Amino acid sequence: MTQHLADLARHAVDAPARDTRTGAAAEPAGKPRGWWRDAVIYQVYPRSFADSNGDGMGDLPGIRSRLPYLRDLGVDAVWLSPFYASPQADAGYDVADYRAIDPMFGTLHDADALIRDAHGLGLRVIVDLVPNHSSDQHEWFKRALREGPGSPLRERYHFRPGKGEDGELPPNDWESIFGGPAWTRTENPDGTPGDWYLHLFAPEQPDFNWENPAVADEFRSILRFWLDMGVDGFRIDVAHGLVKEAGLPDMGSHDQLKLLGNDVLPFFDQDGVHEIYRTWRRILDEYPGQRIAVAEAWTPTVARTANYVRADELHQAFNFQYLNTPWDAAELRRVIDLSLDAMRPVDAPTTWVLSNHDVVRHVTRLAAEGADAEAAQRRGRAASLLMLALPGSAYVYQGEELGLPEVTDLPDEVRQDPAFFRAAGQDGFRDGCRVPLPWSGSEAPYGFGPEGASSWLPQPAEWAALSVEAQTGDPASTLELYRSALAIRREHPALGAGDSVTWLDGLPEGVLAFRRDAADGSFVCTVNLAAEPVRIPAPGRLLLASGDAPLLDGEILLPTDSAVWWAV
Ligand code: GLC
Repeated sequence: MTQHLADLARHAVDAPARDTRTGAAAEPAGKPRGWWRDAVIYQVYPRSFADSNGDGMGDLPGIRSRLPYLRDLGVDAVWLSPFYASPQADAGYDVADYRAIDPMFGTLHDADALIRDAHGLGLRVIVDLVPNHSSDQHEWFKRALREGPGSPLRERYHFRPGKGEDGELPPNDWESIFGGPAWTRTENPDGTPGDWYLHLFAPEQPDFNWENPAVADEFRSILRFWLDMGVDGFRIDVAHGLVKEAGLPDMGSHDQLKLLGNDVLPFFDQDGVHEIYRTWRRILDEYPGQRIAVAEAWTPTVARTANYVRADELHQAFNFQYLNTPWDAAELRRVIDLSLDAMRPVDAPTTWVLSNHDVVRHVTRLAAEGADAEAAQRRGRAASLLMLALPGSAYVYQGEELGLPEVTDLPDEVRQDPAFFRAAGQDGFRDGCRVPLPWSGSEAPYGFGPEGASSWLPQPAEWAALSVEAQTGDPASTLELYRSALAIRREHPALGAGDSVTWLDGLPEGVLAFRRDAADGSFVCTVNLAAEPVRIPAPGRLLLASGDAPLLDGEILLPTDSAVWWAV
């Protein structure tokens, strides 16, 4: 039997006091300042969350209609991947107008209604900001092309003459993250071959030149636009990419993708980015209600990630080192310590993330080779409980609370990930984690859209059993596990914010156990990553288990790939 004693705890949660602007729960006495320090932030991928009009594509009214689900799940904030006007060459990360909603997702009025409703339910709203590049359909870029060499609009991007006799070679050897050269040659207004422009991602995503003051001015204004709309923060896309090394020097090597995250590259993690974030922090601080920003920053070390969250910069940065850690007790312990140690000196919360719209869902990614669906679920659930027990803020990617696996058999003709169509780039299989959510019913689209409607990516038949409806009320389900975990996390004094854990040693190899202490209660998390079940003394009162974990004579039998939370 699965033990979810936490049901008791869930019902015991008192209605919290509310912040008057956002409606979010006010800070409980005794917990550290700053709502983001322990927030659970739920990533909504608008294309795939809920489709209100039956066109097969999720939209803002769809998200709005499902906000009560997120409130009941127990998250603190919602981060929305881009919904801006966009030709969708990279699923909306190619923005044509930063102040408009793509008609496929709705209108500004829908965005306003969504923000208001979310606040009314006590949920904060974080929007994605894409400052490294625009769409090639952005007005500035279109004019830059139209007006040709000498146009001041060209200074807002990186246009350069090519090398070689006729400028037929790219200006330097940089490679696109999505594969192929990071440069595309333009055509002059008279039809002759022209300069090249830089795009670290797809050719439809020209990189801005952040040395140009018009770019910085524009983004300050965009920040204010959305802050005035009432958003609570921003997720900064490619926060490490805005500043390029002066002179755009050659890398001198190929396979640059392999170097990402190992070295400071001439186009990534340049020190100059920090001045931009200091300016942004001042803007965020002008607004009431603790508006925040979280960096998507790929850096060589967690210590360099910490630079983005110094006191006068951003509030959080994603911890990709943790996301990339294999399911191995020693490795996890090392990375957890490293992450906490890196953030402590800058007094920023560590973040924990297992899944997002760019990586293979963690149920599938962490699974042992040859594991069946049940074993994969078991490990995924244990990983989730471990993550949610760690000090700091946690990110949950839509559908992970349902235990959704990666869809690995999408036919080529339905794929939309631009990297899929460019050889030797980022893996190109990001569609598999973007398949629309199953909400209810026994047939596709499983409540994602109206009955009979299709979905932009096909949903697997097995997802009927994983829908919100199918899992609700089943104490053995992953959804109820998340609901219980988030309720306990909110309530237990030793969970949430913090900057350290105490490891409990003397346990069999492959078992991770740590303790967290607060003035009015301690907490222990035990996880068995070994290939065999282990029997260990019960360290306290069992709060929640990720799977069967029988208690016998003061001992608990921890099966392989299980995690248990304890009140001590
Ligand atoms: C970020 C996004 C990813 C996108 C890329 C380019 O890494 O998470 O989805 O393709 O930036 O904007």
